[in-house]
Amino acid sequence: MITKYLALPGPTEVNPEIMLEISKPIFNHRNVIFKDLLERVTEKTQKLLNTKNEVYFLTASGTGAMECAIVNTLSKNDKILALINGSFGQRFADIAKQYGADVIEFHGEWGKGFELDKIKKIIDELGDNLKGITVVHCETSTGVLNDIEAISKLRCSDKTLLLVDGISSIGAVKVEVDKWNIDVILTGSQKVLALPPGLAIIAFSSKAIKAYEESDMPKYYWDIGKYRKFYIENRETPYTPAIPLFVGLLKQLEVLEEKGFDQEIKKHEKIANMVRYAIRAIGLELLNDDDIAANTVTPIKVPDGIDLKQLRKILLEKYSVDVAGGQGKLEGKIFRIGHLGNVEPLFIISILAALEMALKELGFEFEVGRGVKAAQEFWINNLK
Ligand SMILES: Cc1ncc(COP(=O)(O)O)c(C=O)c1O
Repeated sequence: MITKYLALPGPTEVNPEIMLEISKPIFNHRNVIFKDLLERVTEKTQKLLNTKNEVYFLTASGTGAMECAIVNTLSKNDKILALINGSFGQRFADIAKQYGADVIEFHGEWGKGFELDKIKKIIDELGDNLKGITVVHCETSTGVLNDIEAISKLRCSDKTLLLVDGISSIGAVKVEVDKWNIDVILTGSQKVLALPPGLAIIAFSSKAIKAYEESDMPKYYWDIGKYRKFYIENRETPYTPAIPLFVGLLKQLEVLEEKGFDQEIKKHEKIANMVRYAIRAIGLELLNDDDIAANTVTPIKVPDGIDLKQLRKILLEKYSVDVAGGQGKLEGKIFRIGHLGNVEPLFIISILAALEMALKELGFEFEVGRGVKAAQEFWINNLK
């Protein structure tokens, strides 16, 4: 069964034009066509990230890139501070622990931004002993957009690296890798870039590369030294790359660049605001305050008396709409609408229409059509 409306925070719908590119015949990744492709994709990704840092591509999902960030920059027993306000922040911490880092977990409330003054105190106490900070830009599990620029500025030592998971933010939110002094940032193909899953992107600052040279964590497939050598010497990847995804990525980056990367950010912002406005009009409660809400995913509290499993089942089976549930401690308490990538206003209006019908069927009291109407009005009133 094909799901028509992927209202998930990834994987996202792939544009048919891009799908056609991806389905072109395979070619040799050691020939000149691929070298040219890799060089162009690298340059365009640097533009997307506002960076001159080195960018590498991995055949992996986003978690692979998180692991790559850790094993290439840290050594066993290095002290790192893991900022956690959702399940992906926890994942970053767990990977670092698995490889033997000495991880100090800082837990923020799920669905809220971090209390920066508390983090600053820990950073100042650790001083030069703090080797790294891990943080998720858009914490997809809670829809919170963490303030990376502010977190970066909390560092008091040149020795502290900032490792950022930008998996569900890059492309939909301004990311200034160089200005914000981000040492490692990463994303995956199946989110805002709206490609099939399987390609991860990771960028390393010169400070991160220096840390690589000193790092003693075990690595083979993720060893970024090999990716550097192959790129610098031959414009190649060390291992067989996901060739079709590179072809799709180049096309997608060309399309986005032509529209303007900033325009794409504005589109995501407007869609996110439209979703939040409409959800409130239905009478549902959002998990997050507006000032920390991400542009890519909106978590909604499950109203009293509504069975979430039933709601998601009706949406999927009757309307072919797949919305995401909650994760970890929010499982059963929220559902999440993803609105990233190729998302357009009519897509959102369809999701809202289905949601209203499913809620009504389950007995939720409200006037059907209010959410759709609010979304339409929002869009019309914000046409510029
Ligand atoms: C912020 C964030 N980090 C990490 C991941 C894990 O990525 P993947 O499932 O591609 O390994 C996701 C996926 O949803 C994510 O949204």
